[in-house]
Amino acid sequence: ARTVHRGADGVVTVGGMDVRALAEEFGTPAFVLDEADFRARCRAWRDAFAPDADVFYAGKAFLSRAVVRWLREEGLNLDVCTGGELATALAGGMPPERIALHGNNKSVAEIERAVAAGVGRVVLDSFQEVERVAEVARRHGVRQRVQIRVTVGVEAHTHEFIATAHEDQKFGLALADGSALEAVRRVLAADSLELVGLHSHIGSQIFDMAGFEVSARRVVGLLREVRDRHGVELPEIDLGGGLGIAYTPDDDPAEPHQIAKALRDIVHRECEAAGLALPRLSVEPGRAVVGPTAFTLYEVGTVKPLEGLRTYVSVDGGMSDNIRTALYDAEYSVALVSRASAAPPLLVRVVGKHCESGDIVVRDAYLPSDVAPGDLVAVPATGAYCRSMASNYNHTPRPPVVAVAGGMAGPLIRRETEEDLLRLDVG
Ligand code: LLP
Repeated sequence: ARTVHRGADGVVTVGGMDVRALAEEFGTPAFVLDEADFRARCRAWRDAFAPDADVFYAGKAFLSRAVVRWLREEGLNLDVCTGGELATALAGGMPPERIALHGNNKSVAEIERAVAAGVGRVVLDSFQEVERVAEVARRHGVRQRVQIRVTVGVEAHTHEFIATAHEDQKFGLALADGSALEAVRRVLAADSLELVGLHSHIGSQIFDMAGFEVSARRVVGLLREVRDRHGVELPEIDLGGGLGIAYTPDDDPAEPHQIAKALRDIVHRECEAAGLALPRLSVEPGRAVVGPTAFTLYEVGTVKPLEGLRTYVSVDGGMSDNIRTALYDAEYSVALVSRASAAPPLLVRVVGKHCESGDIVVRDAYLPSDVAPGDLVAVPATGAYCRSMASNYNHTPRPPVVAVAGGMAGPLIRRETEEDLLRLDVG
Protein backbone atom coordinates (compact mmCIF):
# COMPACT_ATOMS: atom_id res chain seq x y z
CA ALA A 1 0.00 0.00 0.00
CA ARG A 2 3.03 2.27 0.05
CA THR A 3 2.82 5.19 -2.30
CA VAL A 4 6.54 5.98 -2.56
CA HIS A 5 7.82 6.19 -6.15
CA ARG A 6 10.96 7.45 -7.84
CA GLY A 7 10.41 9.29 -11.11
CA ALA A 8 12.59 9.22 -14.23
CA ASP A 9 14.30 12.39 -12.99
CA GLY A 10 15.24 10.55 -9.77
CA VAL A 11 12.88 12.64 -7.67
CA VAL A 12 10.87 10.69 -5.14
CA THR A 13 7.16 11.25 -4.63
CA VAL A 14 5.02 9.98 -1.77
CA GLY A 15 1.25 10.14 -1.65
CA GLY A 16 1.49 11.94 -4.99
CA MET A 17 3.69 14.69 -3.50
CA ASP A 18 7.18 15.59 -4.75
CA VAL A 19 9.66 15.62 -1.84
CA ARG A 20 11.12 18.90 -3.10
CA ALA A 21 7.70 20.51 -2.83
CA LEU A 22 7.28 19.06 0.67
CA ALA A 23 10.66 20.47 1.73
CA GLU A 24 9.74 23.81 0.22
CA GLU A 25 6.38 24.00 1.97
CA PHE A 26 7.14 22.42 5.35
CA GLY A 27 10.90 22.82 5.68
CA THR A 28 13.40 20.18 6.78
CA PRO A 29 13.84 18.08 8.77
CA ALA A 30 10.28 16.76 8.54
CA PHE A 31 8.58 13.45 9.17
CA VAL A 32 6.50 12.55 6.11
CA LEU A 33 3.72 10.08 6.85
CA ASP A 34 1.84 8.17 4.16
CA GLU A 35 -1.80 8.20 5.28
CA ALA A 36 -2.95 5.52 2.82
CA ASP A 37 -0.20 3.20 4.03
CA PHE A 38 -1.07 3.87 7.67
CA ARG A 39 -4.73 3.09 7.06
CA ALA A 40 -3.91 -0.02 5.03
CA ARG A 41 -1.73 -1.34 7.85
CA CYS A 42 -4.48 -0.69 10.38
CA ARG A 43 -6.90 -2.63 8.20
CA ALA A 44 -4.44 -5.49 7.73
CA TRP A 45 -4.06 -5.81 11.51
CA ARG A 46 -7.78 -5.52 12.15
CA ASP A 47 -8.70 -8.01 9.41
CA ALA A 48 -6.09 -10.48 10.66
CA PHE A 49 -7.51 -10.47 14.20
CA ALA A 50 -11.24 -9.73 13.81
CA PRO A 51 -13.80 -10.82 14.74
CA ASP A 52 -12.62 -12.92 17.67
CA ALA A 53 -9.58 -10.84 18.71
CA ASP A 54 -8.76 -7.15 19.14
CA VAL A 55 -5.90 -4.89 18.16
CA PHE A 56 -4.87 -2.06 20.49
CA TYR A 57 -2.47 0.33 18.73
CA ALA A 58 0.31 1.34 21.16
CA GLY A 59 0.12 5.13 21.17
CA LYS A 60 3.65 5.52 22.51
CA ALA A 61 4.99 4.75 19.03
CA PHE A 62 3.34 7.90 17.63
CA LEU A 63 0.12 9.64 18.49
CA SER A 64 -1.78 12.67 17.26
CA ARG A 65 -5.47 13.53 17.01
CA ALA A 66 -5.61 12.63 13.33
CA VAL A 67 -3.95 9.29 14.04
CA VAL A 68 -6.60 8.61 16.69
CA ARG A 69 -9.31 9.43 14.14
CA TRP A 70 -7.79 7.05 11.58
CA LEU A 71 -7.51 4.30 14.18
CA ARG A 72 -11.13 4.77 15.14
CA GLU A 73 -12.26 4.72 11.51
CA GLU A 74 -10.19 1.62 10.70
CA GLY A 75 -11.46 -0.36 13.68
CA LEU A 76 -8.44 -0.36 15.98
CA ASN A 77 -8.47 0.23 19.73
CA LEU A 78 -5.85 2.29 21.54
CA ASP A 79 -3.34 1.63 24.31
CA VAL A 80 -2.22 4.75 26.20
CA CYS A 81 0.28 4.91 29.04
CA THR A 82 0.15 8.48 30.35
CA GLY A 83 -2.35 11.24 30.98
CA GLY A 84 -0.95 13.01 27.91
CA GLU A 85 -1.66 10.06 25.64
CA LEU A 86 -5.10 9.67 27.23
CA ALA A 87 -5.86 13.35 26.60
CA THR A 88 -4.86 12.96 22.94
CA ALA A 89 -6.94 9.78 22.60
CA LEU A 90 -10.02 11.54 23.96
CA ALA A 91 -9.36 14.72 21.96
CA GLY A 92 -9.13 12.57 18.81
CA GLY A 93 -12.53 11.08 19.56
CA MET A 94 -11.59 7.52 20.50
CA PRO A 95 -14.58 6.01 22.34
CA PRO A 96 -13.36 5.51 25.95
CA GLU A 97 -14.41 1.86 26.00
CA ARG A 98 -11.86 1.25 23.21
CA ILE A 99 -9.00 2.71 25.29
CA ALA A 100 -6.68 0.72 27.59
CA LEU A 101 -4.55 2.49 30.22
CA HIS A 102 -1.05 1.11 30.85
CA GLY A 103 1.99 2.21 32.82
CA ASN A 104 4.06 1.00 35.76
CA ASN A 105 3.50 4.12 37.84
CA LYS A 106 0.24 5.77 36.88
CA SER A 107 -0.51 8.73 39.09
CA VAL A 108 -3.76 8.88 41.03
CA ALA A 109 -4.70 11.84 38.82
CA GLU A 110 -4.16 9.74 35.68
CA ILE A 111 -6.21 6.89 37.11
CA GLU A 112 -8.97 9.35 38.07
CA ARG A 113 -9.18 10.75 34.56
CA ALA A 114 -9.22 7.29 32.98
CA VAL A 115 -11.90 5.94 35.31
CA ALA A 116 -13.99 9.12 35.02
CA ALA A 117 -13.74 8.94 31.21
CA GLY A 118 -14.85 5.30 31.31
CA VAL A 119 -11.86 3.58 29.71
CA GLY A 120 -12.50 -0.03 28.79
CA ARG A 121 -9.46 -1.44 30.51
CA VAL A 122 -6.85 -0.49 33.08
CA VAL A 123 -3.81 -2.76 33.14
CA LEU A 124 -2.64 -3.17 36.74
CA ASP A 125 1.10 -3.23 37.17
CA SER A 126 1.69 -3.45 40.94
CA PHE A 127 0.04 -4.24 44.28
CA GLN A 128 -0.18 -0.52 45.09
CA GLU A 129 -2.06 -0.03 41.87
CA VAL A 130 -4.61 -2.70 42.70
CA GLU A 131 -5.52 -0.60 45.74
CA ARG A 132 -5.32 2.75 43.97
CA VAL A 133 -7.55 1.78 41.06
CA ALA A 134 -9.99 0.00 43.41
CA GLU A 135 -10.21 3.13 45.56
CA VAL A 136 -10.71 5.50 42.62
CA ALA A 137 -13.38 3.23 41.07
CA ARG A 138 -15.17 3.01 44.43
CA ARG A 139 -15.19 6.78 44.71
CA HIS A 140 -16.64 7.06 41.21
CA GLY A 141 -19.21 4.39 41.95
CA VAL A 142 -18.11 2.20 39.05
CA ARG A 143 -16.79 -1.31 38.60
CA GLN A 144 -13.61 -0.80 36.56
CA ARG A 145 -12.58 -3.50 34.10
CA VAL A 146 -8.93 -4.42 34.69
CA GLN A 147 -6.26 -6.80 33.47
CA ILE A 148 -3.18 -7.81 35.46
CA ARG A 149 0.20 -7.41 33.81
CA VAL A 150 2.08 -10.61 34.35
CA THR A 151 5.85 -10.83 34.04
CA VAL A 152 6.25 -14.25 32.52
CA GLY A 153 10.03 -14.54 32.72
CA VAL A 154 10.67 -14.11 29.00
CA GLU A 155 12.35 -11.04 27.72
CA ALA A 156 12.65 -10.82 23.98
CA HIS A 157 15.53 -8.99 22.39
CA THR A 158 15.41 -8.46 18.66
CA HIS A 159 16.22 -11.82 17.10
CA GLU A 160 16.53 -14.02 20.16
CA PHE A 161 14.76 -14.25 23.45
CA ILE A 162 16.27 -14.98 26.77
CA ALA A 163 14.71 -16.06 30.00
CA THR A 164 15.50 -13.37 32.53
CA ALA A 165 15.42 -13.07 36.25
CA HIS A 166 11.98 -11.55 35.95
CA GLU A 167 12.07 -9.98 39.42
CA ASP A 168 14.89 -7.82 38.08
CA GLN A 169 12.76 -5.35 36.12
CA LYS A 170 10.21 -2.70 36.95
CA PHE A 171 7.20 -3.94 34.96
CA GLY A 172 4.42 -6.19 36.07
CA LEU A 173 3.74 -8.86 38.66
CA ALA A 174 5.95 -11.91 38.43
CA LEU A 175 4.64 -15.40 37.84
CA ALA A 176 7.62 -17.13 39.40
CA ASP A 177 7.40 -15.70 42.93
CA GLY A 178 3.61 -15.93 43.13
CA SER A 179 3.03 -12.16 42.88
CA ALA A 180 0.76 -12.51 39.86
CA LEU A 181 -1.45 -15.07 41.56
CA GLU A 182 -1.59 -12.97 44.72
CA ALA A 183 -2.62 -9.94 42.63
CA VAL A 184 -5.42 -12.03 41.10
CA ARG A 185 -6.64 -12.89 44.61
CA ARG A 186 -6.64 -9.24 45.68
CA VAL A 187 -8.40 -8.02 42.53
CA LEU A 188 -11.08 -10.71 42.80
CA ALA A 189 -11.67 -9.58 46.38
CA ALA A 190 -12.15 -5.92 45.37
CA ASP A 191 -15.82 -5.10 44.68
CA SER A 192 -15.00 -2.08 42.54
CA LEU A 193 -12.76 -4.06 40.16
CA GLU A 194 -13.80 -6.53 37.48
CA LEU A 195 -10.90 -8.79 36.56
CA VAL A 196 -11.30 -9.45 32.84
CA GLY A 197 -7.93 -10.98 32.06
CA LEU A 198 -4.17 -11.26 32.07
CA HIS A 199 -1.62 -9.28 30.13
CA SER A 200 1.94 -10.00 29.01
CA HIS A 201 4.35 -7.87 26.96
CA ILE A 202 7.75 -9.43 26.32
CA GLY A 203 9.78 -6.82 24.44
CA SER A 204 10.18 -4.99 21.16
CA GLN A 205 11.40 -5.43 17.56
CA ILE A 206 10.88 -9.21 17.79
CA PHE A 207 10.99 -11.48 14.74
CA ASP A 208 10.95 -14.86 16.41
CA MET A 209 7.55 -16.16 17.51
CA ALA A 210 9.17 -18.47 20.08
CA GLY A 211 9.10 -15.78 22.77
CA PHE A 212 5.35 -15.29 22.26
CA GLU A 213 4.89 -19.03 22.42
CA VAL A 214 6.50 -19.27 25.86
CA SER A 215 4.63 -16.18 27.02
CA ALA A 216 1.24 -17.53 25.86
CA ARG A 217 1.92 -20.90 27.44
CA ARG A 218 2.71 -19.32 30.80
CA VAL A 219 -0.23 -16.90 30.71
CA VAL A 220 -2.61 -19.75 29.91
CA GLY A 221 -0.97 -21.73 32.72
CA LEU A 222 -1.90 -18.94 35.09
CA LEU A 223 -5.46 -18.84 33.71
CA ARG A 224 -5.73 -22.52 34.63
CA GLU A 225 -4.33 -21.90 38.10
CA VAL A 226 -6.85 -19.10 38.62
CA ARG A 227 -9.67 -21.40 37.57
CA ASP A 228 -8.46 -24.22 39.83
CA ARG A 229 -7.98 -21.97 42.84
CA HIS A 230 -10.82 -19.44 42.47
CA GLY A 231 -13.29 -21.19 40.21
CA VAL A 232 -13.29 -18.38 37.62
CA GLU A 233 -12.28 -18.53 33.99
CA LEU A 234 -10.96 -15.11 33.02
CA PRO A 235 -12.34 -14.15 29.61
CA GLU A 236 -9.39 -12.20 28.08
CA ILE A 237 -5.66 -12.40 27.46
CA ASP A 238 -3.45 -9.76 25.89
CA LEU A 239 -0.05 -10.76 24.52
CA GLY A 240 1.29 -7.21 24.13
CA GLY A 241 3.16 -5.68 21.23
CA GLY A 242 6.73 -5.96 20.06
CA LEU A 243 6.49 -7.23 16.50
CA GLY A 244 9.46 -6.22 14.41
CA ILE A 245 9.64 -4.17 11.20
CA ALA A 246 12.21 -3.91 8.42
CA TYR A 247 14.63 -1.08 9.16
CA THR A 248 17.05 -2.38 6.55
CA PRO A 249 16.61 -4.88 3.68
CA ASP A 250 18.07 -7.62 5.93
CA ASP A 251 14.99 -7.65 8.19
CA ASP A 252 12.11 -9.87 7.10
CA PRO A 253 9.07 -9.29 9.30
CA ALA A 254 5.98 -11.51 9.24
CA GLU A 255 2.64 -10.22 7.98
CA PRO A 256 -0.19 -9.50 10.45
CA HIS A 257 -2.21 -12.52 9.25
CA GLN A 258 0.77 -14.83 9.85
CA ILE A 259 1.24 -13.37 13.33
CA ALA A 260 -2.46 -13.68 14.10
CA LYS A 261 -2.48 -17.30 12.99
CA ALA A 262 0.59 -18.16 15.04
CA LEU A 263 -0.80 -16.52 18.19
CA ARG A 264 -4.25 -18.05 17.75
CA ASP A 265 -2.75 -21.50 17.23
CA ILE A 266 -0.64 -21.25 20.38
CA VAL A 267 -3.52 -19.99 22.53
CA HIS A 268 -5.96 -22.58 21.13
CA ARG A 269 -3.53 -25.43 21.72
CA GLU A 270 -2.67 -24.37 25.27
CA CYS A 271 -6.29 -23.74 26.25
CA GLU A 272 -7.41 -27.04 24.81
CA ALA A 273 -4.71 -28.85 26.76
CA ALA A 274 -5.78 -27.04 29.93
CA GLY A 275 -9.49 -27.64 29.34
CA LEU A 276 -10.20 -23.90 29.26
CA ALA A 277 -12.73 -22.06 27.13
CA LEU A 278 -10.98 -19.83 24.59
CA PRO A 279 -10.32 -16.38 26.03
CA ARG A 280 -10.68 -13.33 23.79
CA LEU A 281 -7.20 -12.47 22.52
CA SER A 282 -5.78 -8.99 22.04
CA VAL A 283 -2.42 -7.58 20.92
CA GLU A 284 -0.78 -4.14 21.11
CA PRO A 285 1.39 -3.40 18.08
CA GLY A 286 2.86 0.09 17.86
CA ARG A 287 5.97 -0.01 15.71
CA ALA A 288 4.54 -2.62 13.30
CA VAL A 289 1.62 -0.32 12.47
CA VAL A 290 3.22 3.11 12.19
CA GLY A 291 6.98 2.48 11.80
CA PRO A 292 7.10 1.81 8.06
CA THR A 293 4.56 4.52 7.19
CA ALA A 294 6.89 7.53 7.61
CA PHE A 295 10.35 8.68 6.60
CA THR A 296 12.41 11.62 7.75
CA LEU A 297 13.29 14.16 5.08
CA TYR A 298 16.57 16.00 5.71
CA GLU A 299 18.67 18.47 3.78
CA VAL A 300 22.37 17.83 3.51
CA GLY A 301 24.44 20.69 4.97
CA THR A 302 28.07 19.57 4.82
CA VAL A 303 30.05 16.70 3.35
CA LYS A 304 33.40 15.84 4.92
CA PRO A 305 35.48 13.12 3.25
CA LEU A 306 38.14 11.54 5.46
CA GLU A 307 40.80 9.79 3.43
CA GLY A 308 40.90 6.05 4.14
CA LEU A 309 38.10 6.25 6.73
CA ARG A 310 34.68 7.35 5.59
CA THR A 311 32.69 10.41 4.53
CA TYR A 312 30.57 12.29 7.03
CA VAL A 313 27.33 13.68 5.63
CA SER A 314 25.75 16.18 8.03
CA VAL A 315 22.00 16.71 7.87
CA ASP A 316 19.88 19.44 9.45
CA GLY A 317 18.46 17.26 12.27
CA GLY A 318 19.95 14.37 14.20
CA MET A 319 19.61 12.84 17.64
CA SER A 320 16.87 15.32 18.57
CA ASP A 321 14.54 13.80 15.93
CA ASN A 322 15.94 10.26 15.99
CA ILE A 323 17.57 9.15 19.24
CA ARG A 324 17.28 5.46 18.37
CA THR A 325 20.67 5.12 16.68
CA ALA A 326 22.49 6.66 19.65
CA LEU A 327 20.32 4.91 22.26
CA TYR A 328 19.92 1.40 20.83
CA ASP A 329 22.54 1.25 18.11
CA ALA A 330 19.55 1.00 15.79
CA GLU A 331 20.12 0.44 12.08
CA TYR A 332 18.65 2.63 9.37
CA SER A 333 19.17 3.20 5.67
CA VAL A 334 19.27 6.43 3.68
CA ALA A 335 18.56 7.47 0.09
CA LEU A 336 19.13 10.52 -2.05
CA VAL A 337 15.60 11.60 -3.04
CA SER A 338 15.81 15.00 -4.75
CA ARG A 339 17.57 14.04 -7.98
CA ALA A 340 19.06 11.19 -9.99
CA SER A 341 22.73 10.37 -9.75
CA ALA A 342 24.90 8.04 -11.81
CA ALA A 343 27.84 8.49 -9.43
CA PRO A 344 29.23 5.33 -7.79
CA PRO A 345 28.13 4.51 -4.24
CA LEU A 346 30.17 5.96 -1.38
CA LEU A 347 30.32 4.65 2.18
CA VAL A 348 29.00 7.42 4.40
CA ARG A 349 27.97 8.10 7.96
CA VAL A 350 24.91 10.32 8.21
CA VAL A 351 25.24 12.56 11.23
CA GLY A 352 23.22 15.39 12.72
CA LYS A 353 23.91 18.95 13.81
CA HIS A 354 24.11 18.37 17.56
CA CYS A 355 27.09 19.02 19.75
CA GLU A 356 28.30 15.50 20.34
CA SER A 357 30.02 12.89 18.28
CA GLY A 358 27.42 10.22 19.13
CA ASP A 359 24.89 12.24 17.14
CA ILE A 360 24.58 9.62 14.39
CA VAL A 361 21.47 9.04 12.28
CA VAL A 362 22.74 6.22 10.03
CA ARG A 363 25.97 4.59 11.11
CA ASP A 364 26.96 2.98 7.82
CA ALA A 365 25.23 3.61 4.54
CA TYR A 366 25.87 4.23 0.87
CA LEU A 367 24.98 7.41 -0.97
CA PRO A 368 26.02 8.46 -4.47
CA SER A 369 29.55 9.86 -4.26
CA ASP A 370 28.42 13.22 -5.67
CA VAL A 371 26.14 13.84 -2.65
CA ALA A 372 26.36 17.55 -1.95
CA PRO A 373 24.99 20.34 0.25
CA GLY A 374 21.40 21.13 -0.71
CA ASP A 375 20.53 17.53 -1.60
CA LEU A 376 17.49 16.04 0.10
CA VAL A 377 17.92 12.63 1.69
CA ALA A 378 15.32 10.38 3.28
CA VAL A 379 15.70 7.94 6.16
CA PRO A 380 12.88 5.36 5.92
CA ALA A 381 10.94 3.61 8.68
CA THR A 382 11.01 6.46 11.18
CA GLY A 383 7.27 6.45 11.95
CA ALA A 384 7.67 4.80 15.35
CA TYR A 385 9.55 6.11 18.38
CA CYS A 386 11.23 9.00 16.54
CA ARG A 387 8.85 11.97 16.77
CA SER A 388 7.45 10.49 20.00
CA MET A 389 10.95 10.39 21.54
CA ALA A 390 12.14 13.68 19.99
CA SER A 391 13.81 16.24 22.23
CA ASN A 392 14.73 19.91 22.21
CA TYR A 393 18.44 19.22 22.72
CA ASN A 394 20.51 22.26 21.81
CA HIS A 395 17.21 24.20 21.81
CA THR A 396 16.21 22.58 18.57
CA PRO A 397 12.53 23.00 17.69
CA ARG A 398 11.04 19.57 17.01
CA PRO A 399 10.15 18.76 13.37
CA PRO A 400 6.61 18.57 12.04
CA VAL A 401 4.81 15.39 11.05
CA VAL A 402 3.31 15.96 7.62
CA ALA A 403 0.68 13.59 6.27
CA VAL A 404 0.46 13.01 2.53
CA ALA A 405 -2.39 11.41 0.61
CA GLY A 406 -3.75 11.71 -2.92
CA GLY A 407 -1.49 14.56 -3.96
CA MET A 408 -2.23 16.62 -0.85
CA ALA A 409 -0.10 17.30 2.21
CA GLY A 410 -0.91 18.78 5.58
CA PRO A 411 0.71 18.83 9.00
CA LEU A 412 -0.54 16.49 11.74
CA ILE A 413 1.87 18.17 14.14
CA ARG A 414 3.32 21.52 13.11
CA ARG A 415 6.97 22.41 13.42
CA GLU A 416 7.94 23.82 16.80
CA THR A 417 9.28 27.35 16.76
CA GLU A 418 11.83 29.18 18.84
CA GLU A 419 8.87 31.13 20.29
CA ASP A 420 7.36 27.81 21.43
CA LEU A 421 10.58 27.10 23.30
CA LEU A 422 10.88 30.61 24.74
CA ARG A 423 7.25 30.56 25.89
CA LEU A 424 8.20 27.93 28.49
CA ASP A 425 11.15 30.01 29.69
CA VAL A 426 9.51 32.15 32.35
CA GLY A 427 12.44 33.04 34.64
N1 LLP B 1 2.42 -2.80 24.84
C1 LLP B 1 3.20 -2.49 25.89
C2 LLP B 1 2.74 -2.80 27.24
C3 LLP B 1 4.44 -1.87 25.67
O1 LLP B 1 5.21 -1.58 26.70
C4 LLP B 1 4.86 -1.58 24.35
C5 LLP B 1 6.14 -0.94 24.09
C6 LLP B 1 4.00 -1.91 23.29
C7 LLP B 1 2.79 -2.54 23.58
C8 LLP B 1 4.32 -1.64 21.85
O2 LLP B 1 5.49 -2.23 21.41
P1 LLP B 1 5.86 -2.21 19.85
O3 LLP B 1 4.85 -3.06 19.13
O4 LLP B 1 5.80 -0.79 19.38
O5 LLP B 1 7.25 -2.76 19.80
N2 LLP B 1 11.49 3.15 22.40
C9 LLP B 1 11.79 1.80 21.96
C10 LLP B 1 10.60 0.89 22.09
C11 LLP B 1 10.05 0.83 23.49
C12 LLP B 1 8.78 0.05 23.55
C13 LLP B 1 8.18 0.11 24.89
N3 LLP B 1 6.94 -0.59 25.01
C14 LLP B 1 12.30 1.84 20.53
O6 LLP B 1 12.42 2.93 19.99
O7 LLP B 1 12.59 0.82 19.96
